[in-house]
Amino acid sequence: MDAQKITAATVRADFNDLPAVVHYTRAAHELGLWSSERALIERNFPDRSAPLLEAGCGAGRVTIGLWSLGYRNLTAFDFAQELVDQAISLAAERGAEGIRFLHADATDLAPHASVLAPPFAGALFLFNGLMQIPGRENRRAALRELHRVCRPGAQLLFTTHDRDSSPTERVLWRLEAQRWTRGEQDQRLVEFGDRYFEDEAGRTFMHLPDRREILDDLAATGWRHIFDAMRAAVAKESRAVLDFSDECRFWVAARGISPS
Ligand SMILES: C[S@@+](CC[C@H](N)C(=O)[O-])C[C@H]1O[C@@H](n2cnc3c(N)ncnc32)[C@H](O)[C@@H]1O
Repeated sequence: MDAQKITAATVRADFNDLPAVVHYTRAAHELGLWSSERALIERNFPDRSAPLLEAGCGAGRVTIGLWSLGYRNLTAFDFAQELVDQAISLAAERGAEGIRFLHADATDLAPHASVLAPPFAGALFLFNGLMQIPGRENRRAALRELHRVCRPGAQLLFTTHDRDSSPTERVLWRLEAQRWTRGEQDQRLVEFGDRYFEDEAGRTFMHLPDRREILDDLAATGWRHIFDAMRAAVAKESRAVLDFSDECRFWVAARGISPS
């Protein structure tokens, strides 16, 4: 029997599933912003009254972190309704008033045109949410949508993994490349670089790019690369953050005039 390819519907169902909801809700309540996120947010979004858009907000870990730092013009969305409900309830509990929460898909923001205007001064897609969109064209669609709803010069902050981040990773991905050459990869995967696994957070789809792929995707969708660095080079994280999350690469890009 043919294995079903992973789609956006698979990913949405996995994030709406109980283990994921518990995992991300706990992080939103207990963990808050990582030191690296805080440093890059404060560096790249100095105006706390500027309209910011957070994609893939989940249960609100970053959203509430932004609000706690004094950002007061926030719109946050996620395509997993269960997580958005948790974010709304945490915002109410923390007295974080005025945050606009939406149930929306990053690859198609057109249905939300009235809420997503006027253009945003910045956008965030943190903790690898962009890489949880299966299919490179779909990730590019999300980058184009963020470009469309942001004003020229707006900055985009996001994270990814990096297949070349360590010698061990490079060896593991060389072996995976051989499996793809032989057609022996997990048949549910869409592209080389994809992973689909299960742990205490439930089932997780993740695309792991190399650096070149992201540089090309930014250029193809009208974003100008400004900065990238591995998290360990940005800030030292607490044990709790290291237990919650793998090493990742931070990216900052600026919105060009029009997508190429
Ligand atoms: C790793 S979680 C991070 C959640 C939250 N930002 C955090 O750091 O705790 C990635 C989030 O991206 C969301 N996501 C993935 N694809 C999406 C899409 N196409 N549109 C909107 N949200 C999406 C998932 O539902 C999930 O909540």
